[in-house]
Amino acid sequence: MTRLQGKSALITGSARGIGRAFAEAYIREGATVAIADINLERAKTTANELGSSAYAVEMDVTSQASIDAAIAAVVAKAGGLDILVNNAALFDLAPIVEITRESYDRLFSINVAGTLFTMQAAARQMIAQGRGGKIINMASQAGRRGEALVAVYCATKAAVISLTQSAGLNLIKHGINVNAIAPGVVDGEHWEGVDALFAKYENRPLGEKKKLVGAEVPYGRMGTAEDLTGMAIFLASAESNYVVSQTYNVDGGNWMS
Ligand SMILES: NC(=O)c1ccc[n+]([C@@H]2O[C@H](COP(=O)([O-])OP(=O)(O)OC[C@H]3O[C@@H](n4cnc5c(N)ncnc54)[C@H](O)[C@@H]3O)[C@@H](O)[C@H]2O)c1
Repeated sequence: MTRLQGKSALITGSARGIGRAFAEAYIREGATVAIADINLERAKTTANELGSSAYAVEMDVTSQASIDAAIAAVVAKAGGLDILVNNAALFDLAPIVEITRESYDRLFSINVAGTLFTMQAAARQMIAQGRGGKIINMASQAGRRGEALVAVYCATKAAVISLTQSAGLNLIKHGINVNAIAPGVVDGEHWEGVDALFAKYENRPLGEKKKLVGAEVPYGRMGTAEDLTGMAIFLASAESNYVVSQTYNVDGGNWMS
């Protein structure tokens, strides 16, 4: 299928995990994709593996200069920007009494400021092009409600849901759709780190938390990155032109809203 034929996409944090799966899916649909990541070596390897429609771009979403340089690199390489996925994010957990300012600042800097200012730079480019665009932010079920050990990450994802609402309302007059995806628990390298943190703070053997959260999903298992690609393609395609400011749960039934 070619629902994204000729489109230029930039996906932050796409050297691995969910972003990488989105890149693969967008390429299958006819897009050219910038594998934009703070880990340039891994981004290059991923781009090589995905073929000639993928290219690596070094990008740190906490740096305005790096955001601007990445957008400029996409415009130089692909002639413009049609689709942005704000996917890069960091996870951490700690009980309230142990949260550090360093962890708070890092998570808000990547997950919230990174999302806002990458969205801003992309929107400026899309407005200048005058042909609309699609912006997809990665939220989480964590943004739908609090979790005892996950206060800061949950707050960053609630902020992503809110930014998506406001930016969507502000940008739709330019034909730019801003929407978000809220995954539940998605297996992959990311969850190895999450599992290790829960093991430490909940005093569990490694791997136990992953099994538990998977068993609790109404669908019956953890999600995979591929489970999310249908929604990611829909929100990047013309099929979603009338969808504005929404966050879609793709989580096997974990959350209803
Ligand atoms: N895996 C899950 O269970 C899950 C659940 C809900 C939401 N999400 C969200 O989905 C998105 C992708 O998750 P994932 O599991 O693929 O994560 P991941 O940790 O596997 O991948 C994140 C990528 O972002 C990159 N990155 C980190 N800091 C960066 C920075 N400052 N600038 C640019 N790139 C940076 C990393 O190098 C990595 O390649 C995230 O927004 C995450 O919060 C994931």
